[in-house]
Order: sequence, then C-alpha cells, then structure tokens
Amino acid sequence: MTDLPPLPAENDPLPAPVRNAAALQFLATRRSTKVIHLTGPGPDRAELEQLLRLAMRVPDHGKIGPWRFIVVAGAARHRIGALMGDALAAANPATDDTARALEAQRWLRAPVTVVLVSAPLVPHKIPVWEQELSAGALAQNLLSLVHAAGYGACWLTGWSTYDAGAASVLGLAPGERVAGFINIGTATEAPTERVRPDMDARISWLD
Ligand SMILES: Cc1cc2nc3c(=O)[nH]c(=O)nc-3n(C[C@H](O)[C@H](O)[C@H](O)COP(=O)(O)O)c2cc1C
Repeated sequence: MTDLPPLPAENDPLPAPVRNAAALQFLATRRSTKVIHLTGPGPDRAELEQLLRLAMRVPDHGKIGPWRFIVVAGAARHRIGALMGDALAAANPATDDTARALEAQRWLRAPVTVVLVSAPLVPHKIPVWEQELSAGALAQNLLSLVHAAGYGACWLTGWSTYDAGAASVLGLAPGERVAGFINIGTATEAPTERVRPDMDARISWLD
C-alpha cells in the first residue's frame, strides 16, 4: 500500500484545524472488530510499518516515547503461540494439552498481532502515570489508523499481559509491561453499535 500519508518532518508547516466532516463521521462510527471476525490478509510489512509510524504521533509529555511495538506476524505467530502455551503451563500446573493448544491458537486468529509495550523511563521527571497514559493514546491511535486503512482491529489483554514468563517470551525488559495485544486483519463482517456507558453521568460542566 502506498496511499498512506507521508510522515511530516520536524518543523514542517501543518494545516490548522479545519472542520472535517469525514473524520467526524469516521470517529462517530468506528468500532473494534471482534477477533473471531478477523481474517487475512492483514497489512503487509511496509504498510504496517507506516501505520505504526503514524500511530506514534501521539501526545507524549517530555517527548520521551515511553512505548514500543513488537510485531508478531507470519511464522512467528506459531513460534510465539507455542512458547506462550509453555508459559501458561509454567504459570499454572493444571494446564492440560487442550488449554496449551488453545493458547497457541490465540496467536493464529489474526494475521498480525502488534504487542504494544509500555516502557516508562524510571526515574524520570515525567510521572509514570503520564507515560502510561501516552501508551493508551498510542493504542487508540493505532486502532483508528488501522480502521482508516481498511482493516479491523481489537485491543486485547489477558493472563499473558500480567505474567512474567509471558513477558520473557516477548523479550520485555525489566519495567516494561504489555499495554495490549492489538490484533489486526480483514474484518469478515461489519459491526453494530454497542452499549455505551451513561454519557450524561460522565460529563460535568463548570461554567
Ligand atoms: C486495556 C484494554 C484491554 C482489553 N482487553 C480485552 C480482552 O482481553 N478481551 C476482550 O474481549 N475485550 C478487551 N477489551 C475491550 C475491547 O478491546 C473493546 O474495548 C471492545 O471490544 C469495544 O471496543 P470499541 O468501542 O472500539 O468497539 C480491552 C480494552 C482495553 C482498553
């Protein structure tokens, strides 16, 4: 894919905010795609690389980039899935062959899984909380970009988000944490709108 916008260079003049009806409509109707509704193809390496670079254009207090991506695609899905099955068994001795195979299978559902890693700088004058918030913004930005590029995606977590053995399979450094597994592929069906939290209760005006 070559139709993705190029990344601006530092100090390039950028457009001032203008009303963008298409962007508003896009955000009003974007939804995640359930992983069971993802299939191939996903973005190829060149396209995904560009999407990840665009996704990194997020608010980031201190401009420190306290996050990184690990892309699991192709044959690596089998390798990581098998190792995650082993990690699950190590974490929980009650894991039987079925559970282990199920865990391996989880890595094969989507053609691409982007592991979003929160990598806060510690100690640092920017609080860890703010660095982690930037990782959350990165995840949402990636979901939107992937959708805009014509793919479905969903942000998942699970036991392996919180397991030291799983972190070691992914090669995380001490202090790094999985912020999410962003599963990406072609959506096999269009979504419907979901239940939303009570929005009235979540907006206060002090005016
Ligand atoms: C940090 C985080 C972790 C999540 N983990 C899971 C998960 O493990 N399993 C799941 O079904 N949904 C999980 N979700 C929810 C889905 O990603 C998503 O919020 C839901 O499907 C609806 O999203 P949408 O409003 O973008 O359509 C998680 C969401 C967040 C923010």
